[in-house]
Amino acid sequence: MKAKITVNMANQISSIDDRIYSSFIEHLGRAVYGGIYDPGHETADDMGFRQDVLHTIRELAIPLIRYPGGNFVSGYRWEDTVGDKSKRPRRMELAWFSVEPNEVGLDEFQEWARRANSHVMMAVNLGTRGPAEAGNVVEYCNSTTDTYYANMRRANGFEAPFGIHTWCLGNEMDGPWQIGHKTALEYARTACEAAKIMKWTDPSIELVACGSSNLHMPTFGQWEETVLRECYDHIDYISLHNYYGNPSGDTAEFLGCSLDMDRFIETVAGICDKIKKEKNSEKDIQLSFDEWNVWFHSNEADQKIEKWQVAPPLLEDVYTLEDALVVGCLLNTLINHSDRVKIACLAQLVNVIAPIMTVTGGPMWLQTIFYPYMYAARYGRGTALQAEVDCETYAAGEKKAIPYVDCSAVFSEETGQLTLFIVNRHLTDSLELSLEMKGLPVSRVLEHKVLTHADLKAVNSPEHPEHVAPQDAEASVDSVTLQPHSYHMIRLV
Ligand code: AHR
Repeated sequence: MKAKITVNMANQISSIDDRIYSSFIEHLGRAVYGGIYDPGHETADDMGFRQDVLHTIRELAIPLIRYPGGNFVSGYRWEDTVGDKSKRPRRMELAWFSVEPNEVGLDEFQEWARRANSHVMMAVNLGTRGPAEAGNVVEYCNSTTDTYYANMRRANGFEAPFGIHTWCLGNEMDGPWQIGHKTALEYARTACEAAKIMKWTDPSIELVACGSSNLHMPTFGQWEETVLRECYDHIDYISLHNYYGNPSGDTAEFLGCSLDMDRFIETVAGICDKIKKEKNSEKDIQLSFDEWNVWFHSNEADQKIEKWQVAPPLLEDVYTLEDALVVGCLLNTLINHSDRVKIACLAQLVNVIAPIMTVTGGPMWLQTIFYPYMYAARYGRGTALQAEVDCETYAAGEKKAIPYVDCSAVFSEETGQLTLFIVNRHLTDSLELSLEMKGLPVSRVLEHKVLTHADLKAVNSPEHPEHVAPQDAEASVDSVTLQPHSYHMIRLV
């Protein structure tokens, strides 16, 4: 089968906001305890942080790491998590039915993020708490005033403010599973008042309001409209969350799920623009896709996990090659919508539905999905160009026309390189792909990496950490062969 991709320098989508390669660490399962923090580990630093994990994360240059949740944030008492560790309470954590020892808290995490060369994207609790506590935590983190919470930070050993710039107004407040779940209007009013107090405390911050927890929520659309009508002048972004899965085992259909992400983004952008018009506002609300990934493998195992443990092995999905292809397509969708999506967080980063896994006290290993994320984070910075794809399509599930080839193209003004991220969704056939570059200063292929395996269900593990790993492959500036079910990163100069 043949296909063609044309990339024209004149057809620019947007300058990419690097923050679309952000990620997420929640106090959930072994993300923190046993993941980033393992004081008994042979690589632990002076604060108990695993340096093997830190090193890998530093290499990704992740712009933002969302914290401390997720569902966890809706019961979060930030004051429990700062200052003298010996005085911190152990709490029943009602989002994941675990015990939170508060050995790692806000004080430590902001230092971990600094060591990871990243920045914290902090969420406030609008589930069991409200605007006052949201303002207090902004003061603790960011204020230089001679006042109670800024002085509390100083007394805890931090003279300089943490300088946290991006804040989430709660998490998935539309979901009945959320601690302190709210109707759209209840949430919108609380978020609006929290936003005012938070920005009065630190006018330099930016705020993300909760949108829908996924495209299929019964309140989707109406939720966004209500939140935007109430909060428009006080917020900067609205969030989107969506996880994708293949519980029925229909790989062809699963590989097309990035088309749902396209639709989700376009619909929410349309709602933002509708409310902008309604309000006759000059301001655009941008999109923060601050939870996305594949998540379904661990669902059954999680039902059997005993409650009230510290760091139980929750949400430990082991990802297949098929999942990596989906993550490659989802990343392409984010890049191709970089005119509207300014922040996106791969959820999550370590051990919990994560690209990076650890054995507590033992080795670290990388999942299949690590690779498309790594290549996009590394080479997807610059200007997104429209990749015009001419290929056959197939029908699967409810979708009539899923293109066999999925692609995004990024030109870096800094390096002069054009990088193509391509997925061949065809399960059995190779594709002979011709490439046409228009107005681009590129004449040769610098690097071509391919991620594939004969078995779509192949996975990595601590024993076989490189069972599915990228390989070097051939390509020329005008053609490349794409093996069946394969992911490609091609750099041209
Ligand atoms: O990332 C796991 C969970 O998924 C988060 O806590 C929640 O926000 C979402 O439902």
